[in-house]
Amino acid sequence: MPTVSMTVNGKAVSREVEPRTLLVQFLREHLGLTGTHVGCDTSQCGACVVHVDGRSVKSCTMLAVQADGRVVTTIEGMAAADGTLHPIQAAFRENHGLQCGFCTPGMVMSVADLLKNNPSPTEREVREWLEGNICRCTGYHNIVKAVLAAAEALRGAPAHAAE
Ligand code: FES
Ligand code: FES
Repeated sequence: MPTVSMTVNGKAVSREVEPRTLLVQFLREHLGLTGTHVGCDTSQCGACVVHVDGRSVKSCTMLAVQADGRVVTTIEGMAAADGTLHPIQAAFRENHGLQCGFCTPGMVMSVADLLKNNPSPTEREVREWLEGNICRCTGYHNIVKAVLAAAEALRGAPAHAAE
């Protein structure tokens, strides 16, 4: 079996994996990082979004071996070391951008990528960006509100340590 090595949430990890192991399985089953969810088997729901080399990726669409040598960030890597929520997480909480929370890790990771590249998105841009993330609970209104609030918070904050 091939050995894959990558940096996950700032830590170097190395494991033997079956070549067919998906990145999401690697994160959840090999590393125990179960904050990354699996909500479909059709690459549609976005619950599995993580960052690979700083870009959001649906981790069910990538093999673990394809992430060899790369830098991966999961939802577990977003809060500060002292547990302080990332501003995007805090905005979701404050704006009731979640109900059951199943979609939330993927939403947060996806939004982090959006706001890094577009710090002042319009409501329409937020809705378009989140087309790849499905939420069965909220009707999206509060998610969009949370993203706009997070954008504002991040524009006013010094660079966050996690991202
Ligand atoms: S589990 Fe990856 S898109 Fe649904
Ligand atoms: S909060 Fe339940 S799926 Fe989004």
